[in-house]
Amino acid sequence: MTAKYEVRGPVAVITLDNPPVNGLGFETRKAAAEGVERAQNDAAVKAIVIAGAGKAFSGGADIREFGSPKALAEPNLHSLINLVESCDKPVVAALHTVVMGGGLELALGCHYRVVMPGTKVALPEVKLGLLPGGGGTQRLPRALGVEPALNMIVSGEPVNAELLAQVPGQKLFDRVIEGDLLEGALAFAAEIADARPLPKVRELKARHPEAEAFFQFARNTVSAMSKNFPAPLRCLESVAAAVNMKFEDGMKFEREGFTALMFTPESKALRHAFFAERAASKIPDVPETTPVRAINKIAVIGAGTMGGGISMNFLNAGIPVVILETQQEALERGVATIRKNYEAQVKKGKLKEDKYAQRMALLSTTLAYADLADADLVIEAVFEDIAVKEAVFKQLDAVMKPGAILASNTSTLDVDKIAAFTKRPQDVIGTHFFSPANVMKLLEVVRGKHTAKDVLATVMQLGKKIRKTCVVSGVCDGFIGNRMIEQYSRQAGFLLDEGCTPEQVDKAVEKFGFAMGPFRMGDLAGNDVGWYIRKRRYQEKPELRYSRTADLLCEQGRFGQKTGAGWYDYVPGKRDAMPSQLVVDMIAKHRAELGVAPRKISDEEIVQRLVYALVNEAAHILEEGIATRASDIDMVYLTGYGFPLWRGGPMCYADTVGLFNVVQSMKRFAKNPLDDAKFWQPAPLLARLVAEGKSFND
Ligand code: NAI
Repeated sequence: MTAKYEVRGPVAVITLDNPPVNGLGFETRKAAAEGVERAQNDAAVKAIVIAGAGKAFSGGADIREFGSPKALAEPNLHSLINLVESCDKPVVAALHTVVMGGGLELALGCHYRVVMPGTKVALPEVKLGLLPGGGGTQRLPRALGVEPALNMIVSGEPVNAELLAQVPGQKLFDRVIEGDLLEGALAFAAEIADARPLPKVRELKARHPEAEAFFQFARNTVSAMSKNFPAPLRCLESVAAAVNMKFEDGMKFEREGFTALMFTPESKALRHAFFAERAASKIPDVPETTPVRAINKIAVIGAGTMGGGISMNFLNAGIPVVILETQQEALERGVATIRKNYEAQVKKGKLKEDKYAQRMALLSTTLAYADLADADLVIEAVFEDIAVKEAVFKQLDAVMKPGAILASNTSTLDVDKIAAFTKRPQDVIGTHFFSPANVMKLLEVVRGKHTAKDVLATVMQLGKKIRKTCVVSGVCDGFIGNRMIEQYSRQAGFLLDEGCTPEQVDKAVEKFGFAMGPFRMGDLAGNDVGWYIRKRRYQEKPELRYSRTADLLCEQGRFGQKTGAGWYDYVPGKRDAMPSQLVVDMIAKHRAELGVAPRKISDEEIVQRLVYALVNEAAHILEEGIATRASDIDMVYLTGYGFPLWRGGPMCYADTVGLFNVVQSMKRFAKNPLDDAKFWQPAPLLARLVAEGKSFND
């Protein structure tokens, strides 16, 4: 049963009961509708209360039904709302904790609404590239007022019920109930049981004193803020329809908007990302019931760029951290950076002074390994040098208590090799944070050959606690993200050799929607990082072709923003990238030495070569089992590499373009003598999907 029915005196109580958040799935809608009919037919019942069991009134649509025929099966949400609204006995919604999406739309179909303080109310559909399709855009402006309703619908953000209850003239809530919600709702229902006519939100007027000017202003603001997303503007037009049209016409307009948005690539991408995020936390052979180890104290080795940022994540979550370094000065420098970061947040009003103090009180430092003995998890973030890692892990093995988890933040080294430095490889794992580690959402969790399942489960859970998007990666050079980005960078280099400037490449990629093109990115991260890696990699694999331009740049000491010059020039203290004639000349000279006549390269070719390089490498990664699913790779790129959200990640984008078309382009690139023909051979998985007419999502 997914909605309970009981009669309390003269009032029938229908309680939605579909954990975790009473999603309005088919069974729940059906049970609720049956409840309404039963109450209608019971002469002893004078009024009806609709309530929600457990942690919510209702979180809206049942996401487990998304895209399945069940989502539309009768009674669908519209039918249920109509049934409630046209009931000839008063229906009272008893709202608490979470009232979102279809849950709020159902409540708006009731004749009265009572609410518990602290309830979060939202119409979040816009976040999935949709608009509230159950009458939300028509009823909320009528009940709450045009401006606050528009804000809620266009932003999708939850608002506290108390705030909404204070909106002048609002008819959203009839009473705020401080004590027991059900008792309060029953008392309210008894009071209004005989009042007629029954109030209906659809009969209210949505008014604005200067509607036309207001909507024009809002249109300008919304289009500027949501350039690549069609949904917010469509939401706005639907709210405008609530003002300008009769209720039934507005409902029709809303429905058309909803259907149109459902088929946009942007909504598909957002829904894909929504499910990808949830899927990423699931590991096929590690059940969710796997017991986890208790993590009450963290140790971090190295107080550099990464060690400091990593520590902040745990301090923010209220978990004590001890940092170890070899030198007192390094510790002091590291702690000073952490302080500086927090102080900047305090200055911006994002962090309260007392919270800052609380966080710093959780931090301690040491030079002695013995002080780490009581930590439950240690994260190593020392220099990227296998000999240094070896020394550190041998010491950790000697001092850490049994069962402690030993993690490495290495970005390129072999986690299995690191595990082998210890006598407890089952307790060793990779935690690959992204810089700045206190800001970036992505955490690649690297599963070694011997990593125990409960270690993996523990780290995934801890990652969630520090609000990261965790994606599991197997062991390989660069893991998921950097292994792919290397192919992308290689293509960027070839493009310079063939005729592009760094600016042209960056602009094309930024127009596609990346937060930053490859060369501006290199300048930000430091070109020396890649230089160091290339020296090692191309020594190991001398047959791999790549453009020498990046090495030539580094040989001139142009490491990027930190040296005031890289692919671009920089004015001290500023981050604006200014095209550099010196670099353009350097590239031209190199081109001449290669005997290459520059050609004009289209933005389309630039984007395709960079993005399809990601896709082809990703297909190898999937086939090798380094990534569990294509959508995990999308999450890596959306949360760690600034891939445009409205395109859903590289795999989702390739599916949208069509894998057949992607492979056709690859075949064309393979014919370019200045490119790497071998690389452009479609990965076997990709070739197979094309042959079978399938997509990555299949
Ligand atoms: P960093 O050079 O800023 O910091 C390293 C710190 O480790 C220094 O403070 C140093 O004094 C300390 N250290 C060196 N040897 C030590 C030892 N034996 N015991 C204790 N402390 C020692 O380096 P960064 O950038 O923080 O990198 C650290 C690790 O994180 C590397 O493995 C790197 O590959 C990885 N990483 C770096 C990223 C980045 O963007 N910088 C991103 C992801 C991973």
